[in-house]
Amino acid sequence: MGKKTEFLYLSEEDIIKAGALDYARCIDVEEEIFRLLSVGDYVMGGDKHNSHGIMMKFPKESPFPNMPLDAPDRRFMAMPAYVGGRFNVAGQKWYGSNIINPQRGLPRSILMVMLNDADTCEPLALMSGNVISSVRTGCVPGVGVRHLARKDAQVCSCIGAGPVSAACFEGIATEAKKLKEIVVCDLVIEKAEKMAKEMSEKYNIKGRATTSLEEAVRAGDIVSVAASSVKPIELKNEWLKKGSLLIFTGRGKVDEEYFLTSKVIWDNTKMHEVYYDEHMMLPENERFINGIGVQIYRMMFEGKLPPITEGISLGDVICGSAKGRENDDEKICFIASGMPVWDVGWGYELYENAKKAGLGQTLKLWDEPYLA
Ligand SMILES: NC(=O)c1ccc[n+]([C@@H]2O[C@H](COP(=O)([O-])OP(=O)(O)OC[C@H]3O[C@@H](n4cnc5c(N)ncnc54)[C@H](O)[C@@H]3O)[C@@H](O)[C@H]2O)c1
Repeated sequence: MGKKTEFLYLSEEDIIKAGALDYARCIDVEEEIFRLLSVGDYVMGGDKHNSHGIMMKFPKESPFPNMPLDAPDRRFMAMPAYVGGRFNVAGQKWYGSNIINPQRGLPRSILMVMLNDADTCEPLALMSGNVISSVRTGCVPGVGVRHLARKDAQVCSCIGAGPVSAACFEGIATEAKKLKEIVVCDLVIEKAEKMAKEMSEKYNIKGRATTSLEEAVRAGDIVSVAASSVKPIELKNEWLKKGSLLIFTGRGKVDEEYFLTSKVIWDNTKMHEVYYDEHMMLPENERFINGIGVQIYRMMFEGKLPPITEGISLGDVICGSAKGRENDDEKICFIASGMPVWDVGWGYELYENAKKAGLGQTLKLWDEPYLA
């Protein structure tokens, strides 16, 4: 007699009712997962168990009229992970991204999260992933601020005014208890103004909008970079304040002097080792061009910085085996490239909440498997 399998479908509305927008809780859950990363109680894809995921990028040209073509931020991505500890669950985030989607009334990227029993492999839940992903992304900078920012940080500058940047600000604002002002920089001033207004009202702080990268960066005690690739973001060491925390959730560069004189803390050096190796397999003229932190990889390759194997991960700082901020003057850069462990871990927390609250629809996979 085969076994019946059912799983829970959770729409965006269900996910929100289950607490997906609870930034404070998500920051605590992620801190817990950072500890699991530090001790190694997790698995991600690939031979070294540390891959961010597999990207499907379209070709630059195609003889097939329906085939999508390559464009900035155009991709599909599969991101599997197992998260250990009390979670003990496997899962994956799967998404597609198309930069013109907002013109169609859709988010740039559309995401789903699937959870599976790590032992039987049965599906546990299929969930709308946009809110899960954006809150989990925003809360990583929140954990970063908890452990790496100056306690008296008053101004947060956000580069980019899309949903990911807004989520990063919410994660940061949840932890930066002395925050007095948000400065938002976007290529589109109306977007910057809208985000500055919404966030300043929500967190009862001052809000300012600008299109000047320099103006925004100079103002920030915390600088959060989470923009798309429409125009490259290039910062200067001299713009960054003493004691500032610069967080890269999206792509961007700073001049080399910055990295030669600041401390870099990584979300997970083991994943960046994999990224680094992947770059080394590319032809020389394509290496270290695209991706978060690739400029640091290049400096490592050129011998200007110690190798990634000697880098510091935030989980190690949290567990006390590495040092984070040592004084109020040092500039710290936190690289947060994103990992599927956040989607699976935060998704699992929401799945558990949803079960308790009776949310979602139960879907049947089978009464008994036809092919067992
Ligand atoms: N690290 C992670 O975990 C993670 C997770 C999700 C998304 N992301 C990244 O976050 C980024 C933003 O995502 P989104 O969904 O909010 O994108 P989006 O396209 O909705 O918004 C991005 C904003 O950035 C602005 N922008 C682009 N170039 C700029 C520049 N040079 N200066 C100022 N503003 C600029 C655009 O005008 C736009 O308003 C993406 O690059 C994405 O890859 C990272």
